[in-house]
Amino acid sequence: MAARTPPGQLSTADFLQNYWQQRPLLIRQAFPNFVPPLSADELAGLACETDIESRLVLEKGGPTPWHLENGPFSPQRFTELSKSHWTLLVQDVDKYIPGVAELMQQFRFIPDWRMDDIMISYAADQGSVGPHVDNYDVFLLQASGTRRWRINTQPIGADNFIPDTALHILKQFETEQEWLLEPGDMLYLPPGVAHHGIAEGECMTLSVGFRAPSYTQLLGSFADDYVEHQQSQQFYTDPGRALPDHPAHLDGESLRELRDILRLRFLSDAQLNEWLGRLLTEAKQADAVLPLETPLGRESVEHTLAQQSVLVRNPWARLIYTDHGQQLTLFAAGHSLTVARELFEPLRWLCDFDIYDLSTVSQWRKDAAFIDLLTKLINLGVVLIDEPD
Ligand code: SIN
Ligand code: CO
Repeated sequence: MAARTPPGQLSTADFLQNYWQQRPLLIRQAFPNFVPPLSADELAGLACETDIESRLVLEKGGPTPWHLENGPFSPQRFTELSKSHWTLLVQDVDKYIPGVAELMQQFRFIPDWRMDDIMISYAADQGSVGPHVDNYDVFLLQASGTRRWRINTQPIGADNFIPDTALHILKQFETEQEWLLEPGDMLYLPPGVAHHGIAEGECMTLSVGFRAPSYTQLLGSFADDYVEHQQSQQFYTDPGRALPDHPAHLDGESLRELRDILRLRFLSDAQLNEWLGRLLTEAKQADAVLPLETPLGRESVEHTLAQQSVLVRNPWARLIYTDHGQQLTLFAAGHSLTVARELFEPLRWLCDFDIYDLSTVSQWRKDAAFIDLLTKLINLGVVLIDEPD
């Protein structure tokens, strides 16, 4: 079940008020007796798959220092690597390994819409991706072996980057604080804190990453969507205009009206909320959540539930809801569904879990509105039916 308190001894209020987005925090034994949810070989196996985003960073042993190679890799590639100074990184491992997805549940003291993925790195001795800064909040959980983390919280100069590498490595990095992390230890870093983690012996590190939309992304996506879907062009209008005091004067009233357009004042809050809900749930891999070619009818879904099939959430499908008085809206993988208030409890249950326990479903099995909602989610490819073995 979802944890609403951060791992370790700290209270949620303490973490959120004093650390989140503000300062680094080392949590020793955040996960006591931590067992890595996959092996280094399994991680390498994922990096050989075409749909999975992976990278190799070779500080030494490549054509130039800090050489970056993008996956997918052939299994052969891993046999050619030297004994030290390289790192393999695999993105979105939570979408592929259920044990990793489960770990994400431990971070639900931050809302789901802020969560991105769990990236896992495996490093040979001395492996590192170099000193750098990220724009995201990250919890760096040591899964196996040891890694020395060095950090610096001072602002980074715009010219402090090594030129000609695909990686944004800092030219100069001074250690302000450092720790050796053992399995189960975790370091939280807010955006903008420079960090450098060097493996001492081979090691595996999990990065639980949180995304924050940039203004560029929000405004850019909005503009793209608006341009694509706008049926008829609306134009600035100025009936009843007064004679200008001077023809070259761009007057305050005209400016105010133009600014109002840029501030999207022609859209209601409800319209913007709807757009935001869809944007924030869009699947990171668009083709990973596809509607069923042959949609199921409500009867088939009822039949499925009676068959004791297993219902699971598509790992790429993000579910969030908004609640505005009478209006309850479920956003699922870029779609929006209006939901009757009577379905508030099952709606939250659908959002809380990613494996749906059928004994819980059975209490709503006779509820036509619930079956309709579930049918829609199945037909959108958001909820998947796993046939029993
Ligand atoms: C790593 O796991 O080696 C890098 C993670 C990070 O610095 O964000
Ligand atoms: Co980083």
